[in-house]
Amino acid sequence: MSEPAIRLAILGLGTVASGVVRILNGPNSPVSCRAGRSFEIRHVAVRDTSRPREVEVPVNSLTTDWLAAVSDPEVDVVLELMGGTTIAREAVLAAIATGKHVITANKALLAEHGNEVFAAARKAEVCVAYEAAVAGGIPIIAAVGRSMTGNRIVSIEAILNGTSNFILSEMLGKHRQYEDVLAEAQALGYAEADPAMDVDGTDAAQKLILLTQLALGKKVELKDFPRQGIDTLELADMLYAEELGYRVKLLAVARVVGQQLEMHVEPTLLRRERAIAQTDGALNIVELEGDAVGHLVMAGAGAGQMPTASAVVSDLVDVAIGRAQQTFPQLNLWQDDSGLTVMSADQIQRRYFLRFNVEDRPRVIAEVADILGRNQISLASIIQHEAPEVDASENGGVPIVPLVIMTHRTTEGSIRAAEASLAQLSTVRAPHVRMAVAD
Ligand SMILES: NC(=O)c1ccc[n+]([C@@H]2O[C@H](COP(=O)([O-])OP(=O)(O)OC[C@H]3O[C@@H](n4cnc5c(N)ncnc54)[C@H](OP(=O)(O)O)[C@@H]3O)[C@@H](O)[C@H]2O)c1
Repeated sequence: MSEPAIRLAILGLGTVASGVVRILNGPNSPVSCRAGRSFEIRHVAVRDTSRPREVEVPVNSLTTDWLAAVSDPEVDVVLELMGGTTIAREAVLAAIATGKHVITANKALLAEHGNEVFAAARKAEVCVAYEAAVAGGIPIIAAVGRSMTGNRIVSIEAILNGTSNFILSEMLGKHRQYEDVLAEAQALGYAEADPAMDVDGTDAAQKLILLTQLALGKKVELKDFPRQGIDTLELADMLYAEELGYRVKLLAVARVVGQQLEMHVEPTLLRRERAIAQTDGALNIVELEGDAVGHLVMAGAGAGQMPTASAVVSDLVDVAIGRAQQTFPQLNLWQDDSGLTVMSADQIQRRYFLRFNVEDRPRVIAEVADILGRNQISLASIIQHEAPEVDASENGGVPIVPLVIMTHRTTEGSIRAAEASLAQLSTVRAPHVRMAVAD
């Protein structure tokens, strides 16, 4: 190999960075051959240099001084694998300012500060590569950014958070409750010590923002679209959905509707026969629709050490052969040039799954149907099982039963208006469960 080695500063030596070092150090690693150059790890920045490490890095490369590492003129590429949005942002901007290409797996950083980071990189004529930031090992950024450039992409439907998907699969498969499975997800290392962003939909929404920017040319912020997690989901509703032929998934959607962008992340009923409904465990899946190629589906490990490291190293090879430097400016990334406006939540049109507890008396279903009808919502199907869920003696002898309704297509605004009226009925009790249905 006549080309000089590519010199790296790696920020972090945790889960992902250790996987990257493992691939680069692998005895039969094909990476240098594919890159046409070898890689030399100059610096590895960590918080605590005395901690035992699962991989070997060059003697004296470990440091706590991330700024010195990224500023070293002998470094060509900075791999930001520390996470967070404060020091990571400073480190990435410092790397760019001193002329380094940056590779990051940090979706939170790019979802929040992507504009700033990409503008700085364009100005400094370096590139930022982020395959690992969306859907872990699935090469979705390369597919969208390189292989679908002949298309106008009109829709993204995806499962982008493996932790949530693992929890939902376990709840349904083994009839377990949410809290119970969450504890196991943490023990297995799927969920973070603080799993809030996994289960409240934020992590999936951050990844959807990155994909939407790249695929649909629209910069969207977290506050611009509805987001709901799986943290309030009950097994009972997943079982009702099954009875109706659907499976509940935490679905991330970005879809072009005329000049508007419909976007949301929420538990959604999907027909059981769809590939996305059958994606179980900690896997991710992305379904794209392009006007030329039609439907594309990519599925695989959305997180974890080696799948994520696989994505980071593919970016590294792209930088080594100069491909990333060409595609980054050409794609004019992080431009907001689609002309799309984000649809307000009230305008979103789809079918809905609703569940209320109601008094088991004559005319109750008629009252509910009347209110829905007055809000232009028509019913597709109803489930009301005989067995009372609540002891009748607690309600003056009147049993309380769950009433499950699938509606035809309507707007979220109509559903909310109907819910407000239903809440006034003395015969309708909490909970009021509402989930979207994807056709
Ligand atoms: N884990 C996954 O499956 C996965 C998948 C996709 C994307 N990602 C993204 O990849 C990034 C890294 O995730 P991870 O799971 O590898 O994290 P991690 O295991 O917590 O590792 C973080 C590393 O960064 C170092 N670090 C943190 N703050 C630092 C600071 N101020 N100065 C120097 N070093 C610092 C830590 O040092 P110490 O070791 O000394 O504590 C640690 O080595 C995150 O952005 C994450 O969202 C992760």
